[in-house]
Amino acid sequence: MSVVVSPLTREFERKSFASGVVTLDEFLRTHAMQYQDRRIGRNFILHEPNSTTILGFYTLASAEVPRKSLVEKHGRRLPGHPVPCVRLCRLAVDSRFRGLRYGEFLLRDAMLRCLRLSAELGVHAILVDALDAQAADFYRKYGSLPTNDDPLLLYLPIDTIAKSMSDDAEPSA
Ligand SMILES: CC(C)(COP(=O)(O)OP(=O)(O)OC[C@H]1O[C@@H](n2cnc3c(N)ncnc32)[C@H](O)[C@@H]1OP(=O)(O)O)[C@@H](O)C(=O)NCCC(=O)NCCS
Repeated sequence: MSVVVSPLTREFERKSFASGVVTLDEFLRTHAMQYQDRRIGRNFILHEPNSTTILGFYTLASAEVPRKSLVEKHGRRLPGHPVPCVRLCRLAVDSRFRGLRYGEFLLRDAMLRCLRLSAELGVHAILVDALDAQAADFYRKYGSLPTNDDPLLLYLPIDTIAKSMSDDAEPSA
């Protein structure tokens, strides 16, 4: 099945999305469009081409993190003021479509989007809010590290993303 990611518009069927996590489903149903209208967050929808059924989504907003929240290896080469980031506030796949690598597809789309943004705006890392320890495991698979503040608040350095993209582009021997 081919899938694409598009910005959220009112045409998508937000009411039928069911990730099984009430707060995420409610956010999409009742707040996501308002967040966009007020420029608080941007939502991106995974769907089949020409379909308005939402398979999954994620939300991005701007953020900053104190340098001391980053592990020593990353924090020590940074200025003393808060470090600019993009926050991946939410990411979910509808429970009917789990295990099809859609979560990975969405996360990679968010990573690429933030890498592109970092060419126009200072972005040191993606800050990731994990719902629970299992979700944190999911993000760690793709290079995210826990902050010093909270094991459920992780960060994925843009340098790590740039490196993983260039490794993927390497022709195989
Ligand atoms: C987490 C979530 C987005 C994963 O989506 P998915 O499409 O089912 O996952 P994928 O098929 O892309 O899985 C990719 C890899 O992550 C692993 N994975 C999937 N869900 C995971 C979870 N909850 N915890 C840890 N690892 C997970 C898969 O086993 C797979 O690993 P592999 O590369 O070793 O095969 C989905 O389970 C979900 O929406 N959960 C509820 C909301 C949530 O927890 N969101 C994330 C934090 S806000």
